[in-house]
Amino acid sequence: MIPFLRILGIETSCDETAAAVVERDAEGHSRILSDVVLSQLDEHSAYGGVVPEIAARAHVEALDELIEQALKRANVSLDEVDAIAATSGPGLIGGLIVGLMTGKAIAKAAGKPLYAVNHLEGHALTARLTDGLSFPYLMLLVSGGHTQLILVRGVGEYERWGTTIDDALGEAFDKTAKLLGLPYPGGPAVERMARDGNPNRFAFPRPLVGEARLDFSFSGLKTAVRQAAQDIAPLSDQDVADICASFQKAISRTLKDRIGRGLQRFKTEFPEATGPSTGEKPALVVAGGVAANLELRATLQALCDKNGFRFIAPPLSLCTDNAVMIAWAGLERMATGAAPDPLDVQPRSRWPLDSNAETLIGFGKRGAKA
Ligand code: KG4
Ligand code: ZN
Repeated sequence: MIPFLRILGIETSCDETAAAVVERDAEGHSRILSDVVLSQLDEHSAYGGVVPEIAARAHVEALDELIEQALKRANVSLDEVDAIAATSGPGLIGGLIVGLMTGKAIAKAAGKPLYAVNHLEGHALTARLTDGLSFPYLMLLVSGGHTQLILVRGVGEYERWGTTIDDALGEAFDKTAKLLGLPYPGGPAVERMARDGNPNRFAFPRPLVGEARLDFSFSGLKTAVRQAAQDIAPLSDQDVADICASFQKAISRTLKDRIGRGLQRFKTEFPEATGPSTGEKPALVVAGGVAANLELRATLQALCDKNGFRFIAPPLSLCTDNAVMIAWAGLERMATGAAPDPLDVQPRSRWPLDSNAETLIGFGKRGAKA
């Protein structure tokens, strides 16, 4: 018998203000009772990226009301939740302070335990809520702030197998879009243009392809795009489409190589999890905003099919930043019997999920996300 648990989650680490209530019953059935997200996209788009100060103020203005809404939609009172889970890192420090302080205040006032959750752990565990996945599995997190391949061994047990040594993948999309004159956020705009483009017109570099390590690098690709755009300026719509299609092709090939190696490593390290006797194929989970890209999804799906893996992409609203994943991570921690965090726990702008992983030079340029 597992305990019935119901958790209120709070997320404010970047440009989404979010609150949610999630529960799991004694039979192990989990339910999302509410999921409220307020995107700050409009506030930031004029600046071509997230402005930390604007983000922090927007969280302050929206959070109380959002938490009220999350409880109301879930039809529960604060008395009826077992704990509060708030993101306490990694991310933009102003936003983290807002969310964590609010979480502490509620925990104190309502006499509930507080779990200070690592945002990356939220992404890492989501597939257990959506797909009931069992450990171990591999997770690829590709967003505006992260590009990481993570081995998820268990709750609190993560190994970073690969990370970017420069730009995050979403950042590469955003910067490429900017230099081509496309709107922010760049990913959807680049994907749209790429549909009418020739992916073979430009031979862009595929950094680190062929190397044994499982890291990523995207800044050289962005530089090559800039050079190509300068060489043929002024750009016609067809030129932009061809550059976008060639850029996406280079990324697809890069991911195929890097992730393909990751799947092989998983098979070697966990032969028992990959053998036919388990009756279940091993799994690769994708998360983060870039997971919306249909070409990259198709690449990962094909790669998984080829290697005998299940490809798991939770619904996009749970792949991008949300508070359901934070509530869920708190629930998973509480269910293991882990002690709650003390009320003087501090937010951390840098907080690697795998504390043994070395810091790679140049990674996390935004300064916020590990
Ligand atoms: O996870 P997310 O919503 O926010 C954080 O970064 O935390 O990810 C946003 C990133 C942006 O860089 C955006 O350009 C990228 O995801 N993105 C895409 C697509 N949709 C969003 N990248 C490629 N193709 C897309 N369709
Ligand atoms: Zn995120």
